[in-house]
Amino acid sequence: MSDVFKGSFTQQEPIPEAGIEAAVAVMRHGRLHRYNTVSGETAETVLLEQEFAASVGAKYCIAVASGGYAMTTALRAVGVKAGDRVLTNAFTLAPVPGAIAAVGAVPVFVGVTPELVLDLDDLTGKADQGDVLLLSHMRGHICDMERLMEICDASGITVIEDCAHTMGAAWKGKASGTWGKVGCYSCQTYKHINSGEGGLFVTDDPEVAARAIMYSGSYMMFERHLAGPPPETFAQIKYETPNISGRMDNLRAAILRPQLADLATQCARWNERYFAIEAGLRDTAGLKVIERAVEETIVGSSIQFLLEGWEGASVQDLLARCAARGVELKWFGNAVPVGFTSRYDSWRYVDAPAMPDSDRVLAGIVDMRVPLTFTLEDCAQIARIIREEASRIFQAAA
Ligand SMILES: Cc1ncc(COP(=O)(O)O)c(C=O)c1O
Repeated sequence: MSDVFKGSFTQQEPIPEAGIEAAVAVMRHGRLHRYNTVSGETAETVLLEQEFAASVGAKYCIAVASGGYAMTTALRAVGVKAGDRVLTNAFTLAPVPGAIAAVGAVPVFVGVTPELVLDLDDLTGKADQGDVLLLSHMRGHICDMERLMEICDASGITVIEDCAHTMGAAWKGKASGTWGKVGCYSCQTYKHINSGEGGLFVTDDPEVAARAIMYSGSYMMFERHLAGPPPETFAQIKYETPNISGRMDNLRAAILRPQLADLATQCARWNERYFAIEAGLRDTAGLKVIERAVEETIVGSSIQFLLEGWEGASVQDLLARCAARGVELKWFGNAVPVGFTSRYDSWRYVDAPAMPDSDRVLAGIVDMRVPLTFTLEDCAQIARIIREEASRIFQAAA
């Protein structure tokens, strides 16, 4: 076993120098709270909101404490109440059904296709089961957004997009997060811009934006949200909307702004790595790479492949052999959630009916992070290791 990968799957790149300098400046002046500004100063948080709204082509943006907070705020802001049913993906991660549960609502799971996107036929069949869809672009896979919007518009379903894995991505050139009513993004360490924790909320709807600003804990300082709707939008909303604090602070915004300015370059670097790994895995016996739709602008910060029809024990064997050679793979077919790989039947607070078609897909999904600290040589080596081990196991089982 001479070929062992020595790199780390969880090592990010450092914060860019410009972000470090901006963060130090905020710490030196001490005004970390977004509303703590001196005359003539525009808070880093406000600048981030303006820049992010412009980058995705949205009218309004609110910087918040986390992606999860953005999702709960979105659900509240579009009117979801305790006891309501909310459609969402069977293939996603725990914060998504968790956001639905946090507002007292009940997730209704929609299946996953072998392309790893929301099953739009299943969505059509369940369209009468909820007025809101919390659509997770899980691991960056974007479904046919035109067809999805047609289905949802025809049934009066409000779409909230979970773009935790698609900041910088698009469908037919239109940014992910701007197709539905609200787009929710995460700035947590493993996402495309990194402030440790953090989230961004975008919408074109002035009332939804006003409610989100009030929820986030703006007291009566909504006029200082320069990426928010005009003050008259708040006339009633300011009295009717509870404060559920979840603001972002100026320190995080300062770290994020230079990263946002670099996002397109970083996305191109992720994609170089993604396609290097994909090329190395393509045509491996027993292993299927996920073909990406031509309409999709991807951000390859992770990669998935399918082991269709493999016995669970063989998948476990592959994971163990790859791990022994330094390659960390995750599997969505586990009976119990491990690390970040939970799935619809892991969330036992939801009474979810079995989904055999999705189960078959989930049982074959293998997932791997692609941090930017990998070189292209690293990517080729990782693909070589997976290929060798998968071929060995597949041929032995044949
Ligand atoms: C698919 C998905 N949605 C939403 C979130 C929530 O983001 P945050 O961790 O910022 O709350 C995550 C975080 O890992 C996620 O993976």
